[in-house]
Amino acid sequence: MKFEVFANGGCKSYMIGCEYSSNAAIIDPEVRLLDKYQAEASRNGLRIHYVIDTHTHADHFSGADELAELLNVPVVMHRDSPAPFASLRLQDGDMLKVGDLRVQAMHTPGHTRDSLCLLVEDRIFTGDTLLIGGTGRTDLPTGDPNELYDSLFNGILKLDAALQVFPAHDYKQLGSTTLAAEIANNDRLQKTDRAEFVDMMEHLNLSMPTHLTEALRTNMSGGKSVAQLLTAAAEKTPFISLKELAARIDQTGGDLIVLDVRERSEFEAAHIPGAMHIPRGQLELRVDDELQDPTTRIVTVCEFGKISTLAAATLRELGYLRCGALDGGMRSWTEEGLPVTAD
Ligand SMILES: [Fe+2]
Repeated sequence: MKFEVFANGGCKSYMIGCEYSSNAAIIDPEVRLLDKYQAEASRNGLRIHYVIDTHTHADHFSGADELAELLNVPVVMHRDSPAPFASLRLQDGDMLKVGDLRVQAMHTPGHTRDSLCLLVEDRIFTGDTLLIGGTGRTDLPTGDPNELYDSLFNGILKLDAALQVFPAHDYKQLGSTTLAAEIANNDRLQKTDRAEFVDMMEHLNLSMPTHLTEALRTNMSGGKSVAQLLTAAAEKTPFISLKELAARIDQTGGDLIVLDVRERSEFEAAHIPGAMHIPRGQLELRVDDELQDPTTRIVTVCEFGKISTLAAATLRELGYLRCGALDGGMRSWTEEGLPVTAD
C-alpha cells in the first residue's frame, strides 16, 4: 500500500493507494490542502478515486466536496451524514475497493452520529472516535457518550490489538499508535465501566471550537466558507500594490479610478485623494449610473483588502474587465504614510 500522511495544524488527513492499479483514496481532506493532495497523488503515480470524510467535522473545513468536484469522483460518508454532497453513502460493514485495497467501513457513532472508522490492511482510520491518548468529544451536535462507549468498547477495541491507529486529529504531534498501546495508555479508555465513561465524557468542560458555526454550516451544507469565497474572488482578480497605486495617483491625466467601497463614515474620515465612493452594499445598484465606461481602469479599495477583492470580482463579472483590487487596504496605506484626504 502507498500511504501518505498530511498534517494541517492538529488536523490529519491520509492518502491510501494501491501500488498495482494506482487507485487511491483521500481520508478527511482539509480545504487548505486541496492542491497538495493532488500534487502528492501525481508524485506517487496515483489517481484519487474516492474522497472520504469519516464524519461531519465541527472544528475545521472539510475539503471533501471541493476535491471530489475537482476530480469528478464521489464523496464517501456514512448513510446518516447530513451533507447533501455525500454521493456514496456507506453503512456498517460496507466495503470499498480502492484497486486491490479493501476499505472496510465500521459505523462508530458517539463523537457524531455519522462517524465511521475505516479498516485497511494493518491499520485503522479512526476519525474522531479514537484519538492518540484521547477520544473525540461527545458534546457537539449529534454527539452521544453512550454511543461512543459502545463504538469503542464493543466495537473497535475488540479488533486486532496490533492495528495501527490513524486518527483525524493529532494535536500533540504524537504520530501513530496501535490499539494495544491505546488500550494500555489512553486515560479515557481506562474507564471501562459505561456509567463512569459517560460521566467522564459529560464533565470534560471543553471550550467550543473556533469557527464551530461556520464549519458546521459549510460541512453540513456544502456551502462555502468566507475564506473560500475570498480565495475564489482573488483567483479572478488582478492586484495592484500600495506602491504602484501611490505612483499612479501622482500622475496627472491618467484614466485610473480609485473606487473606495467602504461605508460612508469611513470614507469621509480619510480616503485616497481623488477616490470615488460607492459602498460595497450599493455597488450593483449604482454602477450603471456612476461607472458608465466598462473599459475604465478601476482599483477597488477597502479597509483590509478583503471586501475590495469581492467588489473587484463582482465588477469584473459585470463586465469591468480592467478592474483590479488594491493589495492591502486603507489600514496598510495609512501605516505606510501614504497620502490621504478627508475632502
Ligand atoms: Fe470531529
